[in-house]
Amino acid sequence: MILNGDDPDVLAAPVPVAVVGAGAMGSGIAQIAAQAGHDVHLVDAVDGAARAARERLHATLSRLAGKGKISAEDAAATASRLHVAPTVRALPQVGLVIEAAVEDLTVKQALFAELEARQDAAVLATNTSSLDTSAIASGLHRPDRVIGLHFFNPPPLMRLVEVIHGPHNATEAGGALLDAASELMRRWGKTPVRCTSTPGFIVNRVARPFYGEAQRMVGAGEIDPATLDLAMRDAGFRMGPMELTDLIGQDVNLAVGTSVWEQTGRDPRYEPTDYQRDLVSAGRLGRKSGAGVFTYDDAGVAQNA
Ligand code: NAI
Repeated sequence: MILNGDDPDVLAAPVPVAVVGAGAMGSGIAQIAAQAGHDVHLVDAVDGAARAARERLHATLSRLAGKGKISAEDAAATASRLHVAPTVRALPQVGLVIEAAVEDLTVKQALFAELEARQDAAVLATNTSSLDTSAIASGLHRPDRVIGLHFFNPPPLMRLVEVIHGPHNATEAGGALLDAASELMRRWGKTPVRCTSTPGFIVNRVARPFYGEAQRMVGAGEIDPATLDLAMRDAGFRMGPMELTDLIGQDVNLAVGTSVWEQTGRDPRYEPTDYQRDLVSAGRLGRKSGAGVFTYDDAGVAQNA
């Protein structure tokens, strides 16, 4: 089977999937793919992280079965499709790789060079929030194998996936691959939205001022974070910007904001705030570290929101 975009039926079968980076996004994406019937191979640069993510996913699946949201048989079958690889080098040949490692162009470029060398035919997708997918693909022999599949947090619950393309996808094979990827996302129960590789794509570009203005108001002492979030929620937003950035991870959100700011020639509309930099320097990364703007109990419930 040819899976490198030369076949219009690329991704039509439940091909094995590799997920690189087993953090918040990678583990959620692995869950979706395994629930959709794919064998999923998780890998992480930190020793033991992929194994720990698989254990957390097993617990999540048992919880879903306990609540009657999926059957016990589905939970067991999905769990059995989750595998761990010690390194990228040790991954088996797969049909699709989804990279969800750190938001750093140099790290992603090195990963994609290794993936291209080791994966003969896989479609290579990045879950980048803001980086130019053409830049990630630059230097590869077949850059049109690289697409953006940008999931939202938490991946099993959020329907949107931005399917991102740049000039490097402008080949016949590249076009077929984007169509196939959109179709695959529909089969995974997602809403694929095609967009060009501009800084922050759609959602992160539009949302930057939402986060930034909130942080500037709170940082200047004009409002407290809980009141600000309450106001935004009751104005119709699903979450306030403070709780949302805690969910995303203040470090991840700052990296994305910095990337959009740099890529727009440091447009002041996107300038990261001292308020957020201070949170990150203090290790207040959000829900995942137990404290961000708000503090969280072990179940992830905000104590002072
Ligand atoms: P995270 O910090 O929870 O997880 C990243 C994982 O990647 C960590 O376990 C880390 O050890 C691993 N990693 C780092 N370098 C690696 C490498 N070279 N090879 C393999 N593993 C490596 O971060 P998160 O939130 O899961 O974000 C991952 C990516 O997804 C980033 O590019 C981020 O911008 C993007 N993203 C994040 C969203 C969010 O709301 N947190 C939403 C959508 C996209």
